[in-house]
Amino acid sequence: MWMTPRPTHDVHVTQTGESYPCAVDESLLRGMLRLGRKGIPAGCVNGGCGVCKVRVVEGSVRPLGPVSRAHVSVDEEAQGYTLACRVAPTAPVRLDICGKLTKPFSRSSPAVVATQAAAPVSPTNPPQEI
Ligand code: FES
Repeated sequence: MWMTPRPTHDVHVTQTGESYPCAVDESLLRGMLRLGRKGIPAGCVNGGCGVCKVRVVEGSVRPLGPVSRAHVSVDEEAQGYTLACRVAPTAPVRLDICGKLTKPFSRSSPAVVATQAAAPVSPTNPPQEI
């Protein structure tokens, strides 16, 4: 029995240069994991840990569930920050990884560097090496 392929949009990860097709009804993170790709850090895959935090710099996404305010503030969300495990693509997407595990990536876009440099420092948001 033939199944109709699900519509997808390409997702491009700036720091790794990787691109992958993500179905419109799956999260950016699940789409990457389903294909065995690496790039966006994966943790709980349920919106709770924040390691999959990304910034959508091109394209658009829709929420699949609530995004934890402990990890993405209202102001950050307005600037394109979200959790990759909680949103699905509605158009081709280019994103920057900006969660807790950003350091392993050597190529960081100017937007990520500027954001990290401007981020307030607190006990829950310690300074990060850039
Ligand atoms: S993987 Fe934990 S919040 Fe996305």
